[in-house]
Amino acid sequence: MAERIDIDGIDKVYPGGNRALKQVSLAVEPGTFLVLLGPSGSGKTTLLRCLAGIERVTGGSIAIGARVVAGDGVHLPPERRDLSMVFQDYALWPHMVARDNVAFALKRRGVSRAEGRATADAMLTRVGLGKLAERYPSELSGGEQQRVALARALVGDTGLVLCDEPLSNLDADLRERMRIEISSLVRQAGATAIYITHDQSEAFALADKVGVLEKGRLVQLGVPEEIYAAPASPFVARFTGLAGELAVRIRGGDRGDGTVEVEAATRSSVRPFRARIGHSGPTGARGELMVRPTAVRLCAIDGDDHHLVGRVADVAFRGRGYEHAVELSCGTQLSNVFAERRVERGESVGLRLEMSGCLVFPGDGAATIGSVENAAGGRLADAPPAESTLAGALQASAVEEVGSWK
Ligand SMILES: Nc1ncnc2c1ncn2[C@@H]1O[C@H](COP(=O)(O)OP(=O)(O)O)[C@@H](O)[C@H]1O
Ligand SMILES: [Mg+2]
Repeated sequence: MAERIDIDGIDKVYPGGNRALKQVSLAVEPGTFLVLLGPSGSGKTTLLRCLAGIERVTGGSIAIGARVVAGDGVHLPPERRDLSMVFQDYALWPHMVARDNVAFALKRRGVSRAEGRATADAMLTRVGLGKLAERYPSELSGGEQQRVALARALVGDTGLVLCDEPLSNLDADLRERMRIEISSLVRQAGATAIYITHDQSEAFALADKVGVLEKGRLVQLGVPEEIYAAPASPFVARFTGLAGELAVRIRGGDRGDGTVEVEAATRSSVRPFRARIGHSGPTGARGELMVRPTAVRLCAIDGDDHHLVGRVADVAFRGRGYEHAVELSCGTQLSNVFAERRVERGESVGLRLEMSGCLVFPGDGAATIGSVENAAGGRLADAPPAESTLAGALQASAVEEVGSWK
């Protein structure tokens, strides 16, 4: 049975002083698929290992249902927490065939070996491996091994499945298929899942709720749509996918609906446009505009509905259309600009910015670009000199012992 999970102000300081988790609080309703998203080193694995009982918390507490499993002098070992884990590197027992790897999860439950094997076979069939039950892990592909690991996690019917980047060692095509399988199998089982990844698209595709971790802190928790539409900070915005960032001048105040009129601080600016006010501001006359890829449209340069002009720096065929990287006069690029038609490299284009995906944050040096490479796909441009009527610049962004079992 899935139970509510309450993580209350947990800290984790590793021996040596490294503070990997800082006051993380989080409640997870039964049956929720929660994805924790964050860059490498943000504390995702540490949080999952604290939940599993592989690591001890150094502060705060964790309760699963009515039981405190960690904190206040309590530390239940993993096997008493009634949960299962799927790891990045599969972590199968090499000396056991697939069936026994899965059946082993039932051992502790007092299930007989024969019954355990029959249940394991049924589970392996569900994950598409019915015919491979007699194979050793070394005789299985990565994707097949991960299916065995998933079958092992689900067969015990623990109600809580923890996944640590289970797809990251698989190639793209298989990743997509396994993502759908994990999503449907975990949901069919009615289990609560806590799944960690550094991949924003994987997180958004899988999650009922997404939690974003930054340097050991949970900086935002919400449904994917909320995180995309209203990121709590420039960091969250960058980490969840931007076409780029622009320094902007703010013209007037809040228009009463949480939007302001802005003008890009570059010679590439053609006319002002509206943007939504981000969580923390902006407060002054200048801001940093975070632009979602969904908010940029290519349009004719001689029309009257574009806000910026630029030059196509790159075009990539994406099957359902083309993604363009458009360079502005100062060298800043807006990337992932989708259009159904192809515009060739070197052509001048107009860019229209849609308010829904344009968020302004305070501009005070927030223009310093984060270390998130995959978010913006842009590059850091040197601030150009003040140009035209606008001062400033555009900046692109940027487990258990193996005993005998009779
Ligand atoms: N056993 C350990 N001892 C000391 N520091 C650790 C240990 N494991 C992880 N860390 C540190 O804790 C931080 C968070 O690591 P981790 O939880 O693995 O992050 P993530 O899974 O998000 O990449 C990092 O700074 C990492 O170097
Ligand atoms: Mg990790």
